[in-house]
Amino acid sequence: MERRIGIIMNGVTGRMGLNQHLVRSILRIREEGGVLLADGSRLVPDPLLLGRNPEKLEAISKRFGGLRWETDLDRALANKEDEIYFDSGPTGMREENVIRAITAGKHIYCEKPLSADLASAIRLAEAADTAGICHGIVQDKLFLPGIRKLRRLIQSGFFGKILSVRAEFGYWVFEGDWGLPAQRPSWNYRKEDDGGIILDMFAHWRYVLDHTLAPVRSVSCLGATHIPQRVDEEGKSYTCTADDAAYGTFLLDGGIVAQFNSSWSTRVYRDELFVMQVDGTEGSAIAGLRECRTQHRTNTPRPIWNPDVPNSIAFRASWLDVPDNMEFDNAFKVQWEIYLRAIGEGTPFVHNFWDGAKGVQLAELALQSWRERRWIDVAPLREEA
Ligand SMILES: NC(=O)c1ccc[n+]([C@@H]2O[C@H](COP(=O)([O-])OP(=O)(O)OC[C@H]3O[C@@H](n4cnc5c(N)ncnc54)[C@H](O)[C@@H]3O)[C@@H](O)[C@H]2O)c1
Repeated sequence: MERRIGIIMNGVTGRMGLNQHLVRSILRIREEGGVLLADGSRLVPDPLLLGRNPEKLEAISKRFGGLRWETDLDRALANKEDEIYFDSGPTGMREENVIRAITAGKHIYCEKPLSADLASAIRLAEAADTAGICHGIVQDKLFLPGIRKLRRLIQSGFFGKILSVRAEFGYWVFEGDWGLPAQRPSWNYRKEDDGGIILDMFAHWRYVLDHTLAPVRSVSCLGATHIPQRVDEEGKSYTCTADDAAYGTFLLDGGIVAQFNSSWSTRVYRDELFVMQVDGTEGSAIAGLRECRTQHRTNTPRPIWNPDVPNSIAFRASWLDVPDNMEFDNAFKVQWEIYLRAIGEGTPFVHNFWDGAKGVQLAELALQSWRERRWIDVAPLREEA
């Protein structure tokens, strides 16, 4: 048995909306015949593309065999047959659009960050709870192969006592003023458009740490705008008003210390664009987006500091790959399937707006820490208190 479920997809002409959510998630799920539910039936998503530009929407629609499209949010929300509203539009427009969708009785799934500030994120979580809808926030990094392998190691007790975590995220985003165009949207570099790497990435780091290692209890952060001037999509030079790098330290439950460098102005000399090393008493691991390598205490070399002679140990050689052992589907698709299953089966969805609000909270506190040059504790949100 098959049941269709209509999804209004707002922001589908954007980077995330088109590639990750429409093409690699929703259309793939459709091709596979929908999501299998516990009762043996299948839930088949039917997207409605929503945006401002009819030409772009029509082109996407045609490219994928004539998908439905619409330019008016109210008209889209009025259709009772479309039960889900999905938002991957600009962060600053999310609260207004999501409130309208909640009022129209839709279930809601959103890109992160849930909102541009904590007060607004909490308003959304409360409104969604009151309406009794199924609400969800994208937490894609949890479903990446590298992070799933790392979680497996943690569950197996591989690390002993976990001591610390060190993560490097970033790559060079071109300025756009010579040779190559910028590979990220210009709003990312403007505070007034809710840009900035802290709001963008700390929303990820919160759920990665909370769900993989331990809850985040305190934050200290130094941000920077290393590149002061960039060139936008129209070829116009603009002043960067938002942070493009952040040097954050977090204290987690159990005394775990986590350091995260996030930067759009660094050149990559590592195996992946994101790598996170976890050190424990019995072993260490380094996880990336896809790979994860371990070094157990029994394989740990015994280096001796002596820069007067050439280094005698090939440090990387004694690390072991965690094997794939299972098929890893696209991380966004995996989370969409869990969300659709929660709606189809009427079960709770843990990656909800409250979890999304925690991401916004960490970003907000990190910005405050930078401004005030001090450590700040992360208070429980009302729902947890
Ligand atoms: N999960 C992740 O890893 C990840 C990565 C990047 C971005 N994001 C999030 O996804 C969201 C979209 O980011 P993106 O990089 O795809 O941005 P983008 O600029 O490529 O796309 C934004 C979309 O919103 C539309 N839009 C822009 N201005 C608008 C306006 N004034 N009115 C109506 N629509 C408008 C655009 O046409 C486009 O469809 C952001 O909230 C961002 O934080 C998440």
